[in-house]
Amino acid sequence: MSKLLEPVTIRGVTMRNRAVLSPMCQYSARHGVANDWHFAHLARFAMGGFGTVIVEATGVVPEGRITYGCLGLWDDAQVGPLARIASFLAAEVAVPGIQLGHAGRKASTALWYRGAFDETPEERMAGAFEEWEPLAPSALMHAAEPGPSGFKRPRAMSAAEIEALPGQFAAAARRALRAGFKFVELHMAHGYLLNQFLSPLANHRTDEWGGSRENRMRLPLAVVREVRSVWPEDLPLAVRISTVDAVEGGVTVEDSIALARALKAEGVDVVTCSSGGFDGARFSVGPGYQVAHARAVREGAGIATMAVGLLGAPEEAEAVIAEGAADFVALGRPALDNPNWPLHARFALGGCEDPYGEWPKQEGFAIRNMDRALKARMFQS
Ligand SMILES: Cc1cc2nc3c(=O)[nH]c(=O)nc-3n(C[C@H](O)[C@H](O)[C@H](O)COP(=O)(O)O)c2cc1C
Repeated sequence: MSKLLEPVTIRGVTMRNRAVLSPMCQYSARHGVANDWHFAHLARFAMGGFGTVIVEATGVVPEGRITYGCLGLWDDAQVGPLARIASFLAAEVAVPGIQLGHAGRKASTALWYRGAFDETPEERMAGAFEEWEPLAPSALMHAAEPGPSGFKRPRAMSAAEIEALPGQFAAAARRALRAGFKFVELHMAHGYLLNQFLSPLANHRTDEWGGSRENRMRLPLAVVREVRSVWPEDLPLAVRISTVDAVEGGVTVEDSIALARALKAEGVDVVTCSSGGFDGARFSVGPGYQVAHARAVREGAGIATMAVGLLGAPEEAEAVIAEGAADFVALGRPALDNPNWPLHARFALGGCEDPYGEWPKQEGFAIRNMDRALKARMFQS
């Protein structure tokens, strides 16, 4: 029996399995508002059998978007289109999740699929183009040069701006709740604002928000506390971290275990263990390249973890859960490649009498008929 594909309950929410659609920016919103692209993109993963589907990094304030094409939840007008998505995900039995974030000094960059600010004036008009001055713990640029992505020198946040941030996250979490989401992941990874506060690489502050590890963790923990206070007790809260910055002088596994312990004490249920995000990060990438981090945090902090990163082989994803390295497996690119990944993994991993019954009812019977005619999968003699 597959451990990966069996149901799991956190707080009051039951996921049909431990396969999670990892949040993936689509750079396709205007003014932070979701549209049919986001609906179609996300719907297929619910139809494809993922237990939880997490909407891309969604800015809690306009200047917190990574690009002008990223989603936002700073305005009530942004709730409706996301509610339509959450409702469809839930109807297809996927737990609707959303990632809330602030890009800090990595905000106002080029749409990643373009790689540069090369839009024509017409495209700028159509896409509601914007550029703005990013905010950060310290006025340090992400990279030595702006490069084609257009990194900008940020302005160091004032104490008042820092103190306002937890409330901005909480307001977005309230809107996420109104939209029908049941799972929130706070983005503290990939060199974005909260990772910038956590890391000595980006945080050179000399006040209570910088310096010691305790001071660098102060704002991320304040954000969690404020979000947890508005996010219902019976709904799970996750945090995505870069377990290592993978740059000399940056965050280490030991720092991340200390952080995960503190997150747990604030009511976080799951830590997603990613890595990197700072200029010059060096780590080797291959199948399951971040699983060891998920295991280290799970064992070191005694908290549930989500592994992510090139886990598209069902047997490898299964082993992550079965061997106790993590409690969830998140898939990004392998899910884009095959939105029906969990449905197909059922056949690969076995242990289920009627895998066709897990397809949407409109489709499962037809797939069964096809396999019967082909003597394929469950009909192999
Ligand atoms: C197109 C794209 C957009 C992404 N956007 C986000 C995002 O919004 N938030 C996030 O935490 N990670 C984001 N990521 C990282 C993925 O969630 C995932 O952690 C990473 O791709 C490694 O997993 P994979 O090998 O399964 O793709 C993105 C990745 C891709 C490919």
